[in-house]
Amino acid sequence: MSQEREKWGSRIGIILAVAGSAVGLGNFLRFPAKATLNGGGAFIIPYFVAFLLLGIPLMWIEWTLGRYGGKSGHGTAPGIFDSLSKNRTLKYIGAIGVLGPFIILIYYMYIESWTLAYTFYSFSGELLRTPDQNSMKEFLAGYQGLKSNNYFSNLGPAYIFFILTFAANFYFIYKGIQGGIEKLSRWGMPLLIIIGIILAIRVLTLGTPDSALPEQSINNALGFVWNPDFSQLLNAKVWLEAAGQIFFTLSVGIGVILTYASYLGSKDDVVLSGLTSSSLNEFCEVILGGSIVIPAAFVFFGGAGAIAIAESGTFNIGFISMPLIFEKIPFGFVFSGLWFLLLFIAGITSSVSLIQPMIAFLEDEFKFNRAKSTIILGIVAFLASQPAILFLENGFLDELDFWGGTVFLILFATVEVFIFLFVMGFKKGWEEMHSGGLMRVPRFYKFIIRYITPAFLLILLGFYSYQQFIPVIFLEGVSEADKPYIWGARALIFGFLLIFLFMIYYAWKRNANNGKGEVV
Ligand code: ALA
Repeated sequence: MSQEREKWGSRIGIILAVAGSAVGLGNFLRFPAKATLNGGGAFIIPYFVAFLLLGIPLMWIEWTLGRYGGKSGHGTAPGIFDSLSKNRTLKYIGAIGVLGPFIILIYYMYIESWTLAYTFYSFSGELLRTPDQNSMKEFLAGYQGLKSNNYFSNLGPAYIFFILTFAANFYFIYKGIQGGIEKLSRWGMPLLIIIGIILAIRVLTLGTPDSALPEQSINNALGFVWNPDFSQLLNAKVWLEAAGQIFFTLSVGIGVILTYASYLGSKDDVVLSGLTSSSLNEFCEVILGGSIVIPAAFVFFGGAGAIAIAESGTFNIGFISMPLIFEKIPFGFVFSGLWFLLLFIAGITSSVSLIQPMIAFLEDEFKFNRAKSTIILGIVAFLASQPAILFLENGFLDELDFWGGTVFLILFATVEVFIFLFVMGFKKGWEEMHSGGLMRVPRFYKFIIRYITPAFLLILLGFYSYQQFIPVIFLEGVSEADKPYIWGARALIFGFLLIFLFMIYYAWKRNANNGKGEVV
C-alpha cells in the first residue's frame, strides 16, 4: 500500500515544532549553569560566535536537506543521503541520524517523566514539605529508586509517571505530523513561553528577600550572572562548552530537523523559518533561561551558593535547588508546579521530535502505516528504556547521553556539512536553500558555510576527542563495579547500530526488488 507523505498544516506550525524540539531542558537547566561557570557575560561571546558560525548554518543545511529528501519521499538521513548520489554506501553513514535520536530518546523520556512527577508533587504539596537540601536529595533518590526511604519505598511511582509520559509521547506520534506534533507545539510553545515569563518576572521582582543580607539583591544577581570575565575567552574549554551548548540547544546534528523539514512542501520557505525557530530558541534560552535559575539561587544562597549549585549539575539545579528556592516564597507550591510543568512541556515537545525520525524511516523505507510504525517502535523503545531506569545509579543513562547526546551529534553535524558541500554540491545546495525563500541568506554566509563551518567542526572534533572522548572511552574514573554497566550501555548501542544497518540494507534490497517500492 503506497501512502501520501504527511505535510505540516501551516508555516507557524513547523516553526513552533522545530522551536519545540530545540527548547528543552537544555535551555532552562544546562545553559544557565554553563554560562555561570564559564565567564558569565563573557560566555555569551563564544556562545553567539558558535550560534552564528555553527548553529545557524547547520540549521539552514538541515532544513534544506530535509525538504529536498521529502520531495522524493525520504524523511531520514539514509534515504536523503542516498537520493543525493549514486554512491551506495552513503545511506549507511546516514544511520547515525536515526539511531542518534533513538538513543537519546530511550533515556530522555525517563528524565522528562520526573518533571511530570514533580509537577504533581508540587501541586499536591508533598515536595515543598521537604525541609532542607539533604531531605530534598533523599526525596529525589527515593523517587529514582536509588534507595528506599521515608518518601518512597520502591520505583512504583517513577514507573507510573514514566508510563504516562511514554503514552503521551506515543499518542502525539500516533496522531501524526499535523494532528499530533503540530497541535502539541501550537499549544505547548505559547504556554511554555507564558509560564517562562511568569517565572522570570517572579524572580526579577524578588528584590532583597533577606534584609540582613543586602548584597543578595536581584540587581546584584543579574550582575553576578552577566558580568563578563573576559580572561575566560583565552580558555579553549570555554569555546568548546559554548559550541557544545549550541548543538544541544538548537537540536542540530541529531537528525530530527531533517525529518521535520521533510514534511514541508517543495516550495515552502526554509531560510526565514529556520532563522525564526532558532531565534525563538535563543529567546527562551538567553532571556528566560538566564533569568530564572541562577538569579534565584543568588538571592537566596549568595554568589558562592549559586556557583555551588551550578557546579552540582543539571539535575541538582532542577530537582533539588529550585524546589528549595520555591519553599522560601509565598505560594511557592504554585511556582514550583509551574516550573516543573514548564520543564515537562519543554521536554515533551523535544522528545516527540526524537521519536519521529525512526517512525519516518519505517514509514518511508518499509512502507509501514503510522499505526504499525508507532506500535513497533513503542514496544522496542519501551524495552530499550528499561536499563536506563534500572541502572541509573551505575551510569547507564550517562553513557547513553555521552554517545547519543554528544559524540553522535558532533559526528553527524560534520557528516551533514560535508554531504551538503561535496555530495549535493555547494552551488546546488545554495540554490535549493533559496527555492521558495522568504528572505535571502546574507552573501557572506557563502564563505562561512563553505569554509568556516567545516573548519570549526573539524577543530571541535579534534579538541573534543583529545579532551573528552579518549578519557571516556578508556573509562577513566569509572569504578570497577560500574564498568560492566558502561559496557552494557555500549553493547546496547552497538547492537542497535548493527540491527539498524541491517534494516537499511534490507529495506533497500526489498524496495529494489519491488520496483518502485510498493510494499504492504
Ligand atoms: N534541544 C533540546 C534541549 O535543549 C534537546 O534540551
